[in-house]
Amino acid sequence: MSTGSARDRIVLALDLDSDRDALAIVDQLKDSVGLFKVGHQLFTAYGPDIVRRIIDKGGKVFLDLKYHDIPNTVAKASAEAVKLGVSIFNVHALGGFDMMKAAAQSAGETAAKLGRPVPVALAVTVLTSMDEQSLRRELKITRSLQREVNHLARMAQRAGMHGVVASPQEIRMLRRSVRGEFVVLTPGVRPSWAAKDDQKRIMTPAEAIASGADYIVVGRPVLKAEDRKAAVEKIVQEMTKTS
Ligand code: C5P
Repeated sequence: MSTGSARDRIVLALDLDSDRDALAIVDQLKDSVGLFKVGHQLFTAYGPDIVRRIIDKGGKVFLDLKYHDIPNTVAKASAEAVKLGVSIFNVHALGGFDMMKAAAQSAGETAAKLGRPVPVALAVTVLTSMDEQSLRRELKITRSLQREVNHLARMAQRAGMHGVVASPQEIRMLRRSVRGEFVVLTPGVRPSWAAKDDQKRIMTPAEAIASGADYIVVGRPVLKAEDRKAAVEKIVQEMTKTS
């Protein structure tokens, strides 16, 4: 799947506690990155208005709220995400086939009704905070983590989802197990020059793209940089050198 230039593939995670800071960053970087990720923190503090304000400024939004509820509720939430004008949204694959199908269908229908582009609907497979032991002990899922991730990704595709959120280690495996055009969006990337923070199994943005990722999510390496624009440009350079 081709998603355009290197910078179009960069999703900047707005993991911040201030709407003013978030909007200032959007002003500064809207022409430098592809999308801005609005997650639970910013959304819980400032609501859908923060999404509207980012879009009004010309930024594209990945709404990272990982819906997980009964199909009817998730369908309605997905319709609202389309009305808000987000470019990407996501759900938990563990919500099941019918839930994912309802989300994808509702997003498609709402977009058609409004004459808007259909947003990319992604499924989160297994959270990377879970390991094989927690899968087995807590969720009583006995197959390997890899097989579970593959299974959920294939189910997501059958349900009409457009792609998955996946850790760098899962990209190659997923590319082999899903068919055709399927978006892979990957957090857990770190440029070679950046601190790892709490990320453990990381790849550089360039490695993630070479492995088959369509989008990479970057937060702290840019947010904490003294010169954020320069940090993004360094990432773009790294990505284009190897692509
Ligand atoms: O600051 P950093 O680059 O680590 O931010 C990465 C973003 O991606 C955060 O918003 C984090 O919640 C998200 N994420 C992640 N690892 C996952 C899934 C999501 O880091 N496995």
